[in-house]
This record gives sequence, structure tokens and C-alpha cells, in this order.
Amino acid sequence: MRHLIDITDFSVQEIEAILDLGDKMIADPAAYGDCLKGKILATLFFEPSTRTRLSFESAMLSLGGSVLGFSSADSSSAAKGESLTDTIRTVGCYADIIAMRHPKEGAPMAGSFKSTVPIINAGDGGHNHPTQTLTDLMTIRREKGRLNNMVVGLCGDLKFGRTVHSLIGAMSRYEGIEFVLISPPELKVPAYITQNLSDRGIPFTEVETMEEAMPKLDVLYMTRVQRERFFNEADYIRLKDTYILDPEKLRTAKESLSIMHPLPRVNEISVKVDDDPRAVYFKQVRNGRFVRMALIKTLLEACNEY
Ligand code: CP
Repeated sequence: MRHLIDITDFSVQEIEAILDLGDKMIADPAAYGDCLKGKILATLFFEPSTRTRLSFESAMLSLGGSVLGFSSADSSSAAKGESLTDTIRTVGCYADIIAMRHPKEGAPMAGSFKSTVPIINAGDGGHNHPTQTLTDLMTIRREKGRLNNMVVGLCGDLKFGRTVHSLIGAMSRYEGIEFVLISPPELKVPAYITQNLSDRGIPFTEVETMEEAMPKLDVLYMTRVQRERFFNEADYIRLKDTYILDPEKLRTAKESLSIMHPLPRVNEISVKVDDDPRAVYFKQVRNGRFVRMALIKTLLEACNEY
């Protein structure tokens, strides 16, 4: 049985196979309309979500399967003190696969140790978000036709932004990738990630302004300052509007730039950018449904191989 806890649980070849399948599903969704008939997905969301939970549910329904689950810890027996592993063992009696979001880093991995069905990490605290990364990889590949040889700028809350951590883990396995990490000093990428890049000889720079990075970027990945991870509201207020992407800031950007954001956005991308053909964040949302269809099918088929 395979789980997806960290994006590097899958080899580059396995990820490309999922992206290939996702592309086929976009091209001909009807061909997959009943391939998971009789299978059940459980979505266990101990934290709020719009895109991830609904795209998982849409994905499973689009494959002919069914869904059940909860969208907040308050509406589950976690509110009565049930342990995570007891919840996972219970839900494994009702569902064939589980997508789980939790505020505690490492919770999906802990759950996977006792699970009888595949667990998908749908976001664990400020740590990782591997299915957002599948969405991001699919979007970059569809926009650029490749996943190698490009400069990727990541901007905003790089400390708590779990999508950033997973995307760096995935993209750093491709040839010719250079990262530009754009953040205030308080929200820099955690040292364990930059140390790993240094150890592997992968080029990166850390800068504080978008303007100094903009001309060289092939991808600009904007992120929200993660209010829910701050211990101190005053720090959040001080940092929340550090970066606001608007048409003026894009003046020096490449024509071929792809502007991405995992969403939700707050203020960090002006709505004036939405009509720029380089803005692909709503394409990301759409791709997320199809790549999750491909992931669910792949993980359930892996169960049948054993
Ligand atoms: N991108 C993302 O994880 O969005 P949600 O929090 O709405 O699921």
C-alpha cells in the first residue's frame, strides 16, 4: 500500500506518470467516469479548506466513486478527545482511501502508521502540501512544456507556507532549476530546506524585494502570509502586506512569466493582475481536480497490486 505524505515519497518518474494520467483525464474525462465505481474516499479535514477538500471530492465523484467525511475537527469525535490513530482506524472501516488535513505537522504520517487504507496528506500545519505540489507541477508543465531549466521565484510567507516547502522539494529534483526566495527576514524558508539545497549544489538566492528578482523569473509563485500560524497578531499585521503584486511591478517581467498562487489569496495579488494572460492561478485550481483524480486512481490501483 502506498501513501502520499511527502512529495518525495514518489519518484520523479512516478510523478510524471500521475501528471501524464491527469493530462489524459483533462482531454477525455468521460473515459474515466466510472473507473472507481464502488470505491469510497474519506476527506478528514481538521482545518479549513475550499480547494483541496472540494477538489478531492469532485475528483472522486468524477471517477464514479463516492465521498464521505468531515470539514472541521468540531464535527468529529476528535472534539470528544478521540486520538488521531483511532479516528484513522475507524474511517478505514468505512472508506478505501483517506485525504487528510491537520494543523499538526506530521499528523498524516502518524496516521499512516496504523492505517489499513492509503493516506494522502492534504496539508499538515506549516510543513507540507504534496497534492498542491502535484497541481503546481501539472500547471507549470502545461504552461511551459517542461519542468527543468527555469528560474522559479517564491514570494511571501516562505516560513509557514507549506506549498512552498513541497514545491521546492519537487522542483529541486529537476535539472537546471534555480530558486529565488523572496521574503522578509522573519518569513524566510526554514534552514533545513536551504541547507538541503546547499548540500545538493542547487542554486538559490534569498532577496527581500520582488523588483530585484522580477526580470529573471520564469515562474513567480506568490503566497499568502499565513495568519493562522502566527503566535502574535501584531507580527501578522506588520508583515501581511509586505508584497502586493500589481501591473506596475510586472513591468520588468518576462512575457513568458507564469504567475501562480495556491490560493486563497488575501491582498498579495491585486485583482488587476487577474486578466493578465500570465496569471494562471485559476488554471491551477482547475488542474487540481484532474491531478487528484489521477492520484486517487494510482493509489487505489497500487493497493490491488499487493
Ligand atoms: N490551496 C489550498 O490548499 O487551498 P485550500 O486551503 O482552500 O484547500
